[in-house]
Amino acid sequence: MAGSTICNNHHNNKLEGKVAIITGGASGIGEATVRLFADNGIRMIVIADIQDQLGQQVANSIGLHRCNYIHCDVTDEDQVKALVESTVRDHGQLDIMFSNAGIISSSDQTVLDLDLSAFDRLFAVNVRGMAACVKQAARAMVEGGVKGSIVCTGSVAASLGGKRRTDYHMSKHAVLGLVRSASVQLGSYGIRVNCVSPYGVATPATCKLYDIGMEDVEKLYEQHMSLKGDLLRARHVADAVLFLACSESELITGHNLVVDGGYQLNN
Ligand SMILES: NC(=O)c1ccc[n+]([C@@H]2O[C@H](COP(=O)([O-])OP(=O)(O)OC[C@H]3O[C@@H](n4cnc5c(N)ncnc54)[C@H](O)[C@@H]3O)[C@@H](O)[C@H]2O)c1
Repeated sequence: MAGSTICNNHHNNKLEGKVAIITGGASGIGEATVRLFADNGIRMIVIADIQDQLGQQVANSIGLHRCNYIHCDVTDEDQVKALVESTVRDHGQLDIMFSNAGIISSSDQTVLDLDLSAFDRLFAVNVRGMAACVKQAARAMVEGGVKGSIVCTGSVAASLGGKRRTDYHMSKHAVLGLVRSASVQLGSYGIRVNCVSPYGVATPATCKLYDIGMEDVEKLYEQHMSLKGDLLRARHVADAVLFLACSESELITGHNLVVDGGYQLNN
């Protein structure tokens, strides 16, 4: 099967001794990244999410000695600040922030019928929340003298226009602006800031969006990828996040790593 044996990130020690926060870690791409980080010798992962039961279940399944769940709504900067402060207090430092929490517009609105209240709600999570996480993580890394890695979840929508979901496309363009600016500003501290930009992945969010099951969502997206033979899954995105988080990418910053099976060039 294509891609299955070329690079095996599982059960390595690429993150030995590191402390990470993963927002949106209770589900989908965030959860897959929590599991991959756990397989890579991480010292502690803090899952930050608003789905308490699910987040706690993921933490329990990894083991509470290596994974902890904290309720944190990223739209509230005080909660983000408290999350980062408690992580540093309890685990000594913050090496990695994977700012991944995000939502997708539920309506097919175009600019002609843009619902600005829904727009504000989406921007509160995807843009304001992302900025709060980058800000608070960077402050902790600067204060602690940690040459950390910050990774944000963008999307192929960060670089393309869309026939619908105007607010979502705008929000992901903003994530790219945040990553690029923060990478310039934090370079002198040795802090790297990068973006991972997936094409469609079957997750609870996309299943809910189309009101279909995981396999049907995968098939829906597969037809638009130029790479055939494997489906784009959350673990492929997690592999890219791991690369950006660990020292293998030590000279890479301000980069937008697209994980799309060739979607962008094919469309
Ligand atoms: N699935 C895709 O096709 C796809 C493609 C490109 C980009 N993305 C991006 O990937 C990220 C993860 O999406 P996913 O598909 O894994 O979705 P998901 O719904 O499975 O996971 C997102 C997680 O974020 C959490 N979250 C939502 N609002 C939050 C808030 N205010 N505070 C804290 N946590 C919050 C949710 O509870 C959930 O656990 C998002 O930023 C999304 O825009 C997804």
